[in-house]
Amino acid sequence: MKKEDDVKGEELVDLNGDGTEKKEEKKEEESKKSNGALKYIMIPLLCLIAIGGILYTVKIYKKINQIELIVCKDYDEMSARAAKIISDLIKENPRCNLGLATGSTPLGLYNILIEQNKRKEISFKDVKTFNLDEYCGIPRNHEQTYFTYMKEHLFKFIDVDLANTNIPKGEGDLESNVRNYEEILKKNKINLQILGIGRNGHIGFNEPGTNFDMGVHIVDLQNKTIQDNARFFDYDINKVPKKAITMGIKNILDADNIILMANGTNKADAIKNVMSGVVDINIPATALNTHKGKVYVIVDKDSASKL
Ligand code: GLP
Repeated sequence: MKKEDDVKGEELVDLNGDGTEKKEEKKEEESKKSNGALKYIMIPLLCLIAIGGILYTVKIYKKINQIELIVCKDYDEMSARAAKIISDLIKENPRCNLGLATGSTPLGLYNILIEQNKRKEISFKDVKTFNLDEYCGIPRNHEQTYFTYMKEHLFKFIDVDLANTNIPKGEGDLESNVRNYEEILKKNKINLQILGIGRNGHIGFNEPGTNFDMGVHIVDLQNKTIQDNARFFDYDINKVPKKAITMGIKNILDADNIILMANGTNKADAIKNVMSGVVDINIPATALNTHKGKVYVIVDKDSASKL
């Protein structure tokens, strides 16, 4: 039996004799083979990385691109820009379904719509309206319900048929109110949904952490929201309702098109998050980045200050 060293020795002798060229050829061949193998692995791998990169970029681009950002010099211009989109829709489709919001943000917008209605430029006669949300636990005719808000800030000044106005009910059997409102929304596709935004990025009353697949539901309001809304309840936190009924993010995203309005520096962080293109359930308004239709984000300079 040959020892291992002997075998190596023989090979060495052989190669160092007349086999030097052969050895080099063999080396070259081997390196060609390994280069070939490397090519077979590396080229497809690099292609995959490149394609992945392109797809990723296109996706991000698409996400940001579908939001049309309109930065206005002040609150009045913000209101006018939003009003123009709504009145154009009503002129084009007098039987349209409008999703409405409350809060201080859309007040200027409603005033413009009231004026246009007075001048007979637009009519709400055949328009149906659907509000986003309502407080629970206070009677409907309480001065701070969204039911009262809508009556006092819009409905009593325009030619809308009150039978065509829909606001979720926050009193009585809440579970059946949830089911009823969901049914109403199922039967009526909203053509244009107006949104304000909370400091924490909430839309409607969908607080941070809300699953984007949720429909109409009851929510426990977060402290930040309760504190923010205390200004409507004599700055007394104890008077602010702690629960609300709201359209879910899914209902909001079901609308054909959406307008999100914001003014003031206290909304700048929330707007920055929306416009960054992220989709994060802890910032509910970022769900708009997944919307298939048109989304307008109409803001004043202060809300745009962190962009
Ligand atoms: C409330 C409403 C929201 C509204 C938000 C911001 O929480 N449920 O629909 O967008 O307040 O209100 P404001 O416009 O007064 O800042």
